[in-house]
Amino acid sequence: MPDSKEPVRRGASTDTWIVDGLRLALARREADTTLARCLYDALRGWIQSGELAAGRSLPSSRRIARELGIGRNTALAALDHLGAEGFVDTRPGAGLYVADIGFRRPTGAAADRTSRSVGLSRRGQTLLAYSRGGQGNRGAFVPGVPALDAFPWAAWQRVLRRHRTRQRGRWLDYGAEGGHPALKAAIADYVTIARNVRCRADQILITHGAQHAFDLIARMLSDPGDTVWVEEPGYAGARAAFTAAGLSLAPVTVDAHGLDPAAAKPESARPKLIHLTPSNQFPMGVTLTMSRRQALLDLARRHGAWIIEDDYDSEFRYSSAPLSSLQGLTDAGDGGAPVLYVGTFSKTLYPGLRLGYVVLPPSLVAPMRRANVRQFREGDYIVQAALAAFMHEGSYAKHVARMRRLYRQRQARLREALGPAAELMGGDAGLHVVLRLASQDAERRLIEAAATQGIALVPLSGYYAEAPAMPGLVLGYANADETEIDRAGCWLRRELMG
Ligand SMILES: Cc1ncc(COP(=O)(O)O)c(C=O)c1O
Repeated sequence: MPDSKEPVRRGASTDTWIVDGLRLALARREADTTLARCLYDALRGWIQSGELAAGRSLPSSRRIARELGIGRNTALAALDHLGAEGFVDTRPGAGLYVADIGFRRPTGAAADRTSRSVGLSRRGQTLLAYSRGGQGNRGAFVPGVPALDAFPWAAWQRVLRRHRTRQRGRWLDYGAEGGHPALKAAIADYVTIARNVRCRADQILITHGAQHAFDLIARMLSDPGDTVWVEEPGYAGARAAFTAAGLSLAPVTVDAHGLDPAAAKPESARPKLIHLTPSNQFPMGVTLTMSRRQALLDLARRHGAWIIEDDYDSEFRYSSAPLSSLQGLTDAGDGGAPVLYVGTFSKTLYPGLRLGYVVLPPSLVAPMRRANVRQFREGDYIVQAALAAFMHEGSYAKHVARMRRLYRQRQARLREALGPAAELMGGDAGLHVVLRLASQDAERRLIEAAATQGIALVPLSGYYAEAPAMPGLVLGYANADETEIDRAGCWLRRELMG
């Protein structure tokens, strides 16, 4: 799979955008600015702001002159000027390139400072605060990523190719059925049997992953200023979606039995939405007990609230028996079941697929479908048809079973590498365990030391909205092979023994 560092192929198409930009610059040219000056100013501005990055090829003077209908000497004058000032390099036989002037795109804290000065809304700035994760990190300890190297690429390509050829011309229009009917049927089969979800296929809405489902639910079922209960600690993606919808986030403490409704603050006692990961709480790995499930359902009914059941990785359960879904405890037939069950293929297949689903109560099917078509558009029905076949033919179940065995082995390997003294929590299910630490200082020190070893450690405290946070590390093990787990795990064990 290509990574973000894969070089961008430079070709005539990117040159075309530059020529289009120069055409716009000429159209806005002030009367007292020469054509050459105008071209020079535009190119220099893009280079200095980093929009044209070092190493990027530039169109030739001949092409600029031809496409903009100006003299070749005019284009040459602008490019020569940039060359003389060190903004442009000439490579014999290969043309003109943007020189390295030492510009680096701002990252991390610098980007946060910049976001304030570029006029982002308060909501936008808060949203960015939930977007600091280690996107793009690979290897041991990155949580939430399945074994990408074990994905059955050949089988998936075969089924995709078959559908792309066979379905030519069909499914190319805007979709409006809530997703490809065959995929909805396959999902309904799976969730009713494996997760005891009560639904018919037409209650399913296919989304671009769970994140899209959270966003749509928040927009459609709550108003700005309404309260949403989120688990504390909890999943930043859901918090970001609720923030973007203008909701007031009320973190409610998670203990060994899951989210404790009695721990909600009096001022947030009447939530409109409740986000839960009941099967495998993220990130602590506890299961919401039956009495709490009942209490939360009662509370939701009393306040007219909706529960978002985020069942993101329950396919990977290793030791204890799974509890059935929270949605399955309700009677979907009465139209009043206050649960929206959200699933995703990000963990069972791969996150870049961007496919998930929400099981809607019957009364919400029509409005949610319509709003989704209006606001986000439906996804690619050909890929959805391929996934339906992948499930129908048994390849999906086979892959999930294989990954369950692999992740169980990888977790065991991690436990072995860390040694018996490491205080680990969770691990009955999912793709990570939590390592408890003695202090925030220990957390900070380990993260800094790990960075020098090329190991990405994720702090448990980052999943809390309010102090005091439990110090620890969230250790993902699914997307790292045994060698990498041994290397990183043994390093961590030595550091812990200090
Ligand atoms: C708690 C939780 N919910 C949902 C998701 C899945 O998100 P998506 O389907 O948008 O990839 C994740 C992924 O990390 C998660 O940790």
